[in-house]
Amino acid sequence: MTLTGLRCRNCGKRYPAEALSICEECFGPLEAEYDYEVIKDSISVEKIQKRAPTLWRYRELLPVSASSCIVDLHAGFTPLHRADNLAEELGIRELYIKNDSVNPTFSFKDRVVSVAVSKAIEFGFDTVGCASTGNLASSVAAHAAKARLKCYIFIPANLNLGKVVQTLAYSPRLVSVEGNYDDVNRLCTEIAGYYNWGFVNINLRPYYAEGSKTLGYEVVEQLGWEAPDRAVVPVASGSLLTKVYKGLKELEMLGMIEQADTRMTAAQSEGCSPVTTAFRTGSAIKPVKPKTIEKSLAIGNPADGSYALKIIRETDGTAGAASDEEIIEGIKLLARTEGIFTETAGGVVIATLKKLVEEGEIDRDERVVAYITGNGLKTQDVLHSYLQEPPVIKADLEEFRKLIEQKKEVVVW
Ligand SMILES: Cc1ncc(COP(=O)(O)O)c(C=O)c1O
Ligand SMILES: [Zn+2]
Repeated sequence: MTLTGLRCRNCGKRYPAEALSICEECFGPLEAEYDYEVIKDSISVEKIQKRAPTLWRYRELLPVSASSCIVDLHAGFTPLHRADNLAEELGIRELYIKNDSVNPTFSFKDRVVSVAVSKAIEFGFDTVGCASTGNLASSVAAHAAKARLKCYIFIPANLNLGKVVQTLAYSPRLVSVEGNYDDVNRLCTEIAGYYNWGFVNINLRPYYAEGSKTLGYEVVEQLGWEAPDRAVVPVASGSLLTKVYKGLKELEMLGMIEQADTRMTAAQSEGCSPVTTAFRTGSAIKPVKPKTIEKSLAIGNPADGSYALKIIRETDGTAGAASDEEIIEGIKLLARTEGIFTETAGGVVIATLKKLVEEGEIDRDERVVAYITGNGLKTQDVLHSYLQEPPVIKADLEEFRKLIEQKKEVVVW
C-alpha cells in the first residue's frame, strides 16, 4: 500500500483516499499522495523491466492498492519512435514521437481510465461515467464493458462521428448534451453527486489523473532512464502536462534518474488556447469559448490550467498554438514523414512544434519528445474535407499509363 491519501494542491489540507476531488476548505483540486519511502524500498529499475509491458509495470506509483481490482486492457508501453525523417524536415537534431495513439481504444485516455475504473471497483461503485471531449468516452465505455460495470457517457452534441461510432460499439448509455464540453462537465458534476456514480474525471479525478504519469515514466525508460530536454504535450484541461512532469520528478526523487530538467511545452489550437494565451501574455488563465476543428482539446475553462501554466514557467518551457489549417498540415506532415496517422490533437502537437522551432523558441540541439495522444482514424470526418479525392480509372493498363503521363509533375495526387 503506497497511497496515503489525498491532499489539496492549494491549501495542503489532507483527506483520506475517498471518491473526492475538491477541497472543502478552498475548492482547490485534490491530488493523490504516496509514501515515497515505502516506494523506494519496493521498486527498482530491474523489477520494473521484468514486468509485462503495460502501464501497470509502475504499479507502486499508481493509486490502486488491490491488484484484483485492476481492469487491464493492456494500455501503455506504447512505442517511442526515433523520428529522424520529421526531425530532418523540422531541423531538429534528436526528435522522438511517443505514439500513444496505439492504445486499446486508440488514445492516451486508456491510461487514466484503466486507473480510474480500477479505483471505482476498489471503492465499490457499480456505475461509472464521464464527461468527454471524445476520447475519454470510448475508453470509459470499453473499460466498463470489460469490468461489467454500468456506464453513462456524456458528450457535447457536435462530436466527431468516428468517436461517437466507436463509443456506441461498446454499448454504454451514451447521452449527447446540447452545448460545449464545459456545459457537459457542469451537468456531470451534478449527476455524479445526485446518483453517487463514479465519474472518472469528476469525483475520481485525483486517481484518474495519476494514470498520465506513466507517459513520463515510459519515455524515461525508453530513453535508457534519462529524461528528455523537452516534452511537447497537447493541453485540454492541463492534467496530462502536469502529470507527465510529476512522473519525471518522482523518478528523480526516487533516484531512478539523475535529473529531470525537462522543459514542459504546451500545444493548443488557436481556437481554444487559454493556457498558451496566458503564457504568452504573462497573465492568469481566462476561460474562452472554443471555436476550432480540434475537438479533443476543446476545453475553454481548463481545470488544471493554472497548474500547467506554473510548470511551464518553472521549467523554462513554452507554449504555442496552431490554426485549423496548420493542424491539418501537422497531421499530414507526421503521416508523410513517419508513417504515423494521428487525430487533430496530434496535428496540434506537430504544428506547434514546427512553429516553435521556426520561432527559435525550441533549440534545434535539444532532445525533444512529442506526445501523440490520439489516432487518426477517430477524426477522419475533419481531415476528409481537406484531402483530394483519388483519381478513378478503369482496370486497364493503358488508362493507368495515361494517368501517369498526366500527373508526371504532381508530387501528391
Ligand atoms: C487526444 C488527447 N490528447 C490530449 C488531451 C489532453 O488532456 P488533458 O485534459 O489532460 O490536458 C486530450 C483530452 O481530452 C485528448 O483527447
Ligand atoms: Zn484546499
